[in-house]
Amino acid sequence: MRLNQLIPTLISTRILPFLKIKIGLLLISGAIVLPGCIGGKNTNNQQADNTPQTNTNAQVSTTNNSSKPSIPFNQSAYSTDEHDIIHGKELFQSNCTACHNFEQKGIGPNLAGVTSRDSPEWLSKFVRNAPEVIKSGDVNAVKLYEEYKQMMPPFTAFTPEDVQSILAYLHTQQPASAVDENTAKLGPPLLDPIPTKIPKSELLLSLESFITAPATSDKIPLARINSMVVLPGKKNRVFVQDLRGKLYEMDGKNLRVYMDMVKERPGFIPTPGLATGFGSYAFHPEFYKNGLFYTTHTEKANTAPADFAYADSIKVALQWVLTEWKLPNPNAPVFAGQGRELLRVNMVNQIHGVQEITFNPFAKPGSPEYGLLYIGIGDGGAAEQKYSFLCNSNKTVWSTVLRIDPKGTNSKNGHYGIPAINPFAQDNDPETLGEVFATGFRNPNRIYWSPDGKMLISDIGLTNIEELNIGKAGANYGWPAREGTFLLNYQGKMDKVYALPADDSKYNYTYPVVQFDHGEGNAFSAGFVYTGNIPLLKNKYIFGDIVSGRVFFVDNNQLKLGQQAPIQEFIVQFDGTVSTFQAITGNKKTDLRFGVGLHNDLYLYTKTDGKMWRVNGCLPNKKI
Ligand code: HEC
Repeated sequence: MRLNQLIPTLISTRILPFLKIKIGLLLISGAIVLPGCIGGKNTNNQQADNTPQTNTNAQVSTTNNSSKPSIPFNQSAYSTDEHDIIHGKELFQSNCTACHNFEQKGIGPNLAGVTSRDSPEWLSKFVRNAPEVIKSGDVNAVKLYEEYKQMMPPFTAFTPEDVQSILAYLHTQQPASAVDENTAKLGPPLLDPIPTKIPKSELLLSLESFITAPATSDKIPLARINSMVVLPGKKNRVFVQDLRGKLYEMDGKNLRVYMDMVKERPGFIPTPGLATGFGSYAFHPEFYKNGLFYTTHTEKANTAPADFAYADSIKVALQWVLTEWKLPNPNAPVFAGQGRELLRVNMVNQIHGVQEITFNPFAKPGSPEYGLLYIGIGDGGAAEQKYSFLCNSNKTVWSTVLRIDPKGTNSKNGHYGIPAINPFAQDNDPETLGEVFATGFRNPNRIYWSPDGKMLISDIGLTNIEELNIGKAGANYGWPAREGTFLLNYQGKMDKVYALPADDSKYNYTYPVVQFDHGEGNAFSAGFVYTGNIPLLKNKYIFGDIVSGRVFFVDNNQLKLGQQAPIQEFIVQFDGTVSTFQAITGNKKTDLRFGVGLHNDLYLYTKTDGKMWRVNGCLPNKKI
């Protein structure tokens, strides 16, 4: 007999009317029976994310089973692997929801927090064959039976793996009150995580108006101009794209349409905005020889089967697509070429999807990193929606930076290669993704190499901390268990951060080298180490806050793992007048971005009004 036929057979007519009501209730409450918030797993560090959860479990009181042992059980007995959890959830939904949920008692007990009430051994025995355990005279089982007056059916057709998966899923379901208790155990929330204010420097950054990008909407943001890329060649060329679909080549002060994603990909959708649209682009280091060019863009959910997907029960908001284009004539002033899809990723939300794609410009021909494409992928809002098992794992693509060989074929879909030098490519674990370079980002917005070869990955935070990280193969940057150098209660409300736990070092997270809190700004706008001709700016990493448009710098020499570089703010002058981006754009949200163009000139531009500014000087402020 198949398992899903068991329930109807076992349910006697005596309980049927009640069951119908119950099933109705379950359907209504179905929307809230979601996988709970659990830690992802990192092979180096199995418990990497379990700080809050371990505390939770130690604190859960046994309200309805007071006779049971109140000692915390071995919580590491439960798998935190997302495939196990998803499998467990599927089994649970088809075999158990008729009698159990995680909100209240049903025909059987409320199972929220059950992994804290019972030992893993007892639970696996009981789930597999409850009647046998009850008949054996087991004290807990008999007591439950007396209370519920109804015997749970046996599930002897389950394999031990099935039972393990169900328990892994049950373990993600903690009572809401436990989360509050857990918060209390985290210590006081830090209302001002970084009390030191960013000081105004003596330096005045001088900007001259350059151009205004064509408006692609009549509503703010007028032009979603995003990243500026220099294509080196006999004559260097500069490009900038608008997320609404156009890639421009900058001919002096003229923005000429080079490529239009709307025309190239009928499935392209730039809406609803934020980070969706024509996300990023990169020229192959041998572009003029092989004509290869890469883009990312968004399409509607279910446009095509995704290479990276999750359980059907979790909604897909949209898909991100990475395309390789082959241009027969790379010198042509306007793009023409054939596209080939390399990979497609489902996203739970429209926010922070696939971010920068880029090649390391320092990887020279012959080096193993030459021609490898880096891809920043945000968590897609998974952590905020309590699907944190999708992030912070080297087994999923969300919240990672990937590194692929676009010319190879040994990936699962055969459309690209997995470089042998990747940290998890040769770990003999079939579940880890060889594509993963580093994990634990919320929104790895920009990836860039400083002139001294440091890989810098910016990460836009949720409600507290903005950060810049030094990229290291195999490292875990902590999201959603960490935001900056702080602990985040990702299982509960994520609006506060807490001091790191005393045993933090065992989690082996890599922390930012620059961070600021939301008292200073709201979203890290990644910048560049200045390499142009203005002496006072040399070797400064210049960046800002996307929202307020404040412009900051740190000394590149102070970007070192293990420390946070002190930030200073520029005074900014616009065409000779000291002002702010908020005043210039007439908007509280300036949507500030940074780019480097010809002659290593630094550009600052704001999506709000589409204006682009060129840095033309820097003065010690006292002189003006
Ligand atoms: C037909 C109703 C029914 C179904 C279906 C059912 N259970 Fe139960 N379950 C019960 C009842 C009733 C109890 C209380 C013990 C008893 O009387 O057998 C129970 C008890 C339990 C307990 C112990 C709870 C505690 O507080 O210690 C666990 C765990 C459990 N069930 C898990 C499951 C899982 C997992 C499934 C699906 C694979 C499942 N049950 C399917 C009715 C059911």
